[in-house]
Amino acid sequence: MQIERDPVSGYLTTGHEWNGIKELNTPVPRIVWFFIAVTHIWALGYWLLMPAFPLGSTYTKGLLNADDRAAVTESVRQAQAARSGWTDELMSKSYAEIQRDQALMAEVRRSGRALFGDNCVACHGENGQGAPGFPDLRRSSLWGATPEVIAETIRVGINSGHKDSRVSQMPAFGRDQMLQGSQIQEVLAYVLSLSGPAGPRPAEMVEAGKAVFAANCASCHGDDAKGKLDVGAPNLTTGYWRTGGSGASLHGVLWDGLRGQMPSWEGRLSPVDRKILTLYVVDLRERHQ
Ligand code: HEC
Ligand code: HEC
Repeated sequence: MQIERDPVSGYLTTGHEWNGIKELNTPVPRIVWFFIAVTHIWALGYWLLMPAFPLGSTYTKGLLNADDRAAVTESVRQAQAARSGWTDELMSKSYAEIQRDQALMAEVRRSGRALFGDNCVACHGENGQGAPGFPDLRRSSLWGATPEVIAETIRVGINSGHKDSRVSQMPAFGRDQMLQGSQIQEVLAYVLSLSGPAGPRPAEMVEAGKAVFAANCASCHGDDAKGKLDVGAPNLTTGYWRTGGSGASLHGVLWDGLRGQMPSWEGRLSPVDRKILTLYVVDLRERHQ
């Protein structure tokens, strides 16, 4: 154990020696002391200014009196106040009044888009365009297209299990043997002829299908096949098919029937949110036309 001065660096050694290797007793660099000092001063200042130490049932509040919880509560209150301004107006006005009010409609489009994104796009698609089996909300009108009808559909759903649910059923004409295979081909030819050329299907077939239609389908879809809103039976003359529209998929509907399910939103969305969505859907329809 011998402390000596290193001739090269000028520092003292620690006196330890390992197989001829000696350790220099170099001082801690200034910069390290500097940062230790700065962080301590910072901590002291922070403890003084901000809430810091628990004191039994309370805590040191700090000279700045900063409180994140109070700040959040306040900004939530402000956001609600800002929203309630227009949502109160939305609830007190009629659909027609709101549709004429461009400022309100701008709010409807903004928050409607978010609500629609959270609750409806999974089935109805990003812009309400639907998918095979799920109606295009811009075109379909199983139950009608007035705001009142759409609001009610959103509230109670279709075949949903809600006590006031809308109920509909397209019978399974093939599976339940209500029609023979040839009659199904005929009525399909007739139905397709209503919205365009029935393809290669001969005129006699279409004519035979017309009779099948009158006897089996008109009760729900109407004599003119334009649908009946009170039973949710669609207009078959528009060329829009929510089940896809190929000969095979329409044959599938006639064979197996159809009973679409739309959830009820009464328990899940507030009346304000449902009114926003109703107007949002009406707006999608109008802008699509
Ligand atoms: C008891 C009432 C009822 C009768 C009878 C009925 N339909 Fe329907 N039909 C419906 C309902 C309701 C729907 C819609 C079902 C749904 O959306 O879940 C429908 C849907 C359809 C669709 C699908 C439309 C689309 O957009 O894809 C076709 C096609 C159709 N019916 C044709 C017929 C034909 C042809 C007959 C007669 C052979 C017939 N229907 C008889 C109630 C009926
Ligand atoms: C789980 C899938 C699903 C979700 C989620 C869903 N829908 Fe539907 N919706 C359907 C189906 C299926 C139908 C067609 C029911 C039938 O066949 O009769 C429908 C029908 C409708 C109709 C009636 C269309 C017409 O032709 O009259 C409206 C309006 C509607 N949905 C709006 C909404 C809105 C708004 C939301 C979001 C809050 C929503 N739906 C969420 C499946 C869904």
